[in-house]
Amino acid sequence: MKMNREQRYRRIEQAEPGEMDKLRALISACPWRQQYHIQPVTGLLNDPNGFSYYEGHYHLFYQWFPLGTEHGMKYWYHTRSTDLVNWENVGIGISPGEPYDSHGAYSGSAIEKDGKLHLLYTGNSRDEEWIRHPYQCLAVMDESGTVVKMPLPVIDSVPSGYTEHYRDPKVWQDGELYYCVIGAQRTNETGCTVMYRSADLKHWEVLGEVKTKLPNFGYMWECPDYMSIDEQGVLIFSPQGIQPEGDLYNNIYQSGYLVGEPLDLETRVFNHGAFQELDRGFDFYAPQTVYAPDGRRILVGWMGLPDLAYPTDDSGWAHCLTIPRQLTLRDGKLIQRPVSEMAKLRATETVKQLHVIMDDEIRSFAGFEGIAYELECEITDFDAERFGIEFRTNEHEKTVIQYDRLQQKLTLDRSLSGATLDPNNGNIRNCALSKDIIKIHMFVDTSSVEIFVNDGEEVFTSRIFPSRDSVGIRFFAHGGKAEFKASKWDY
Ligand code: FRU
Repeated sequence: MKMNREQRYRRIEQAEPGEMDKLRALISACPWRQQYHIQPVTGLLNDPNGFSYYEGHYHLFYQWFPLGTEHGMKYWYHTRSTDLVNWENVGIGISPGEPYDSHGAYSGSAIEKDGKLHLLYTGNSRDEEWIRHPYQCLAVMDESGTVVKMPLPVIDSVPSGYTEHYRDPKVWQDGELYYCVIGAQRTNETGCTVMYRSADLKHWEVLGEVKTKLPNFGYMWECPDYMSIDEQGVLIFSPQGIQPEGDLYNNIYQSGYLVGEPLDLETRVFNHGAFQELDRGFDFYAPQTVYAPDGRRILVGWMGLPDLAYPTDDSGWAHCLTIPRQLTLRDGKLIQRPVSEMAKLRATETVKQLHVIMDDEIRSFAGFEGIAYELECEITDFDAERFGIEFRTNEHEKTVIQYDRLQQKLTLDRSLSGATLDPNNGNIRNCALSKDIIKIHMFVDTSSVEIFVNDGEEVFTSRIFPSRDSVGIRFFAHGGKAEFKASKWDY
């Protein structure tokens, strides 16, 4: 199924006769299509782009290669929703193909101005020697959803001191002015983010780097996103080239944030604390946030990572987006909770509840089973050494979230979750947690799980690929007792 370069850089209208139909047939036979997550209609999805609220809808685009599951010619695919839960596939948002985006319309962001949604993105182009030339480009969407690309890039060169890895503009407004941050690599192969200012979104003045305390932190920062929450500054970005340290930084590329005093827009000094990972799971990258009309800051991430194989590759599609999460700050840490609108998916008549004390045992309960559901579980009064939940189980398969009281660690183990996963990403993720109450709030879909821990203090986001008959849920406590209270809603 591997495509050569020429095949990967085809536009959608260059598909062979019958090629898209073949892809669609493969996809419709795939047992792992998601029920309530945004997933590509065909081919590969990666970063969320242009997350915005405009004309009564949330708009969420994604990086899309329509013709296969490798990273090739990227489009922006457009989805929209009035409630952040039910998403409508609109169609292609931005098509590549101009000289400045001849090899892909890469990631970017959106902002409303003069009644139109302005999409700022990276035009990826390559010359005959296959050398990359990035441009920052503007496209404008009107109320009817028609997107028009500006004839020329709005930032047409890379300032000296940076390499061809210069992309992913994230725009925001401050008073009368617009600012954006761009993910960059310095010529000494370290990552950073560069700031620009504009009065009209068309003419941009380069200001220089955001001055962080991390001069040597990975070789490239992708997808920066700057925001203010509770009058503090937050910079989210995805650095590449960070080495694992114990339980930290175990994915091949990371995604995390810095919290500090608000970024000084004149001096560009950002006085911040330590880098913290956003997610403890296996599949999370390149998130983007939107400032919602009601004042919430909402984040969506790519539930996947570059450079890894996934079991759906042979079925003509790859990856999905996470559910939207509301961000708040507590003691310098981002707290992530599923948006409250998720409750709309609950089929209330099917709520199942249990309240049991488990004593050195593993048990399942009537009604606690399924493929796509929400499960909330509070575990208290424990003296057991280990306790937790096994889900998507059959005789051979299980995915396990477990607390080890002695080591004070929460672990997600997907080594027996189903189809074999890329060995380069491992099968165990741990996170230190020391609490008297453990709350697990899981969103399970056909081929994923998102686990919010203790009201959003930690999140584990992961793809899993179980068999269709892996529907079981088992609660367990080993080496002592634990009291479980759980509710489950079918979706
Ligand atoms: C992150 C990324 C971005 C780039 C896009 C291309 O996953 O590499 O830096 O704009 O994907 O699809």
